[in-house]
Amino acid sequence: MTGTQGSQDSEEAKASGCATLPLNPQTERLCNKTSICSRSYFLLVMVFFHVYLINVIALLFYVHYSSGQDDDSRSRDAPGADHSRINSRGASSKVDYQRDFSLPRVEGIRVGHVQKVSLTPGKSHHMRTLSLKPLLFEIPEFLSEDECHVVMQLAQLKGLMESQLMIQEDHEELVKELNLSPEEIFNLLDINQDGQLQHTEILTHSRVRDGIWLTPDTLKEIYAGLKADKNGDGLLSLEEFKLLSNDAFQRFLQQQGVKRSQLVRNSRHTWLYQGEGAHKVLQDIKERVIQLTRLPPAIVDLSEPLQVVRYEEGGHYHGHHDSGPVYPETACTHTRLAANTSTPFETSCRYITVLFYLNSVEGGGETAFPVADNRTYDEVCLIQNDVDLLDTRKNCDKSNLRVTPTKGTAVFWYNYLSDGKGWVGEQDEYALHGGCVVTHGTKWVANKWINIDPDYQRQARYQQLVSQQPQDSDDNSATKSSDTHSPDIHQDL
Ligand code: OGA
Ligand code: CA
Ligand code: FE2
Repeated sequence: MTGTQGSQDSEEAKASGCATLPLNPQTERLCNKTSICSRSYFLLVMVFFHVYLINVIALLFYVHYSSGQDDDSRSRDAPGADHSRINSRGASSKVDYQRDFSLPRVEGIRVGHVQKVSLTPGKSHHMRTLSLKPLLFEIPEFLSEDECHVVMQLAQLKGLMESQLMIQEDHEELVKELNLSPEEIFNLLDINQDGQLQHTEILTHSRVRDGIWLTPDTLKEIYAGLKADKNGDGLLSLEEFKLLSNDAFQRFLQQQGVKRSQLVRNSRHTWLYQGEGAHKVLQDIKERVIQLTRLPPAIVDLSEPLQVVRYEEGGHYHGHHDSGPVYPETACTHTRLAANTSTPFETSCRYITVLFYLNSVEGGGETAFPVADNRTYDEVCLIQNDVDLLDTRKNCDKSNLRVTPTKGTAVFWYNYLSDGKGWVGEQDEYALHGGCVVTHGTKWVANKWINIDPDYQRQARYQQLVSQQPQDSDDNSATKSSDTHSPDIHQDL
């Protein structure tokens, strides 16, 4: 800018760039010959420069203001937006929202951004962006104190069941059936194929296999108890592994007695239907979730019922994904029947999690997001040097983000990214989260999961099928049909 104010020749020359370099005779000659340093040439350059600057500034203003206004309007208009790919794919179906439909996605703008949302008549809520990876929001006072009370009472009335049973016993039978040799089992466990079993390999396997949460310390105890690690290097070689029986670890743990604190999930829960005939509070919550997520009511109606969870003192839920990754051979639990396939893998496709805090916890019980807004995500880094970021009994303080439970607050996040064409894309690996150990008192939360199949056709077919079912007189058949096969499957790591 300062250069533009210069009116003297010398300054003009500087601004044009000629005088900033020591001129050699050749360039001086060039200047004179082609008049590059002339006054009119300089003016021309400056005019272009100004126009360019003004354009850039105008563009920046446009981007800033249009993204702010879009918070509300763009997502609401989404069902009318032009998404020709989805149109053509869904054209054969009779479901309304298939034409011109694109899934709304609330914009986060930036961490700390607050947007006003209107969820109930006569009241506005403030929704704060907590992270962009995953896209995560917090809405204080989403539920009133009374509503929290009613939900807890209804859950207690219905009765809560153990969220995880102690040990699944079918594993040994499966191993016998498959008739695997120790070498073959060793090979399966040796993820990095270095001929040794590292702690991480054993820990990961144990979690997936029987839901027992081994820590590096318990593993050391088991090695010592079984005298498994003969040379004491902390690794298991094939020779050391072959000396152990198939179920040696399990038997050792069972002898010691598996405690609830050693499970992946240590809580009790129940499900509350939210369809027609349900308590008004439950229906109101569902309506508010529809407003919040801006999704078509049918999608929310067809999702799982409300899950109410109670953690006692000492309760926890280690790091997990609420939903599974999407592979071509994976079917979603909620659309499985309509999909008419017999795929070997099934996962609960939970596009969104809305988590409600029904009480303020006296001590602990935060919801931790270990890798939220990490610059990069590296699965290998989750368990390293005896620090296990997924361990919510030990390492919540090392999580990137922790939400303190406050009565009535709701948080919600997307478990999947967008596919860029208005539908569900890849699983968002950053959506990893867990419930930290409750150190004082009890903790009550509720989950509203919104199920959407990443396969547009399967979702469309499912919705069409359900909408053709005759309505029950005493309940909402649509809700019922999803409830009957609503899973209690979380994808645990
Ligand atoms: C869940 C969950 C977190 C919490 O129930 O799936 O992640 O803070 N809960 O209880
Ligand atoms: Ca290894
Ligand atoms: Fe969860």
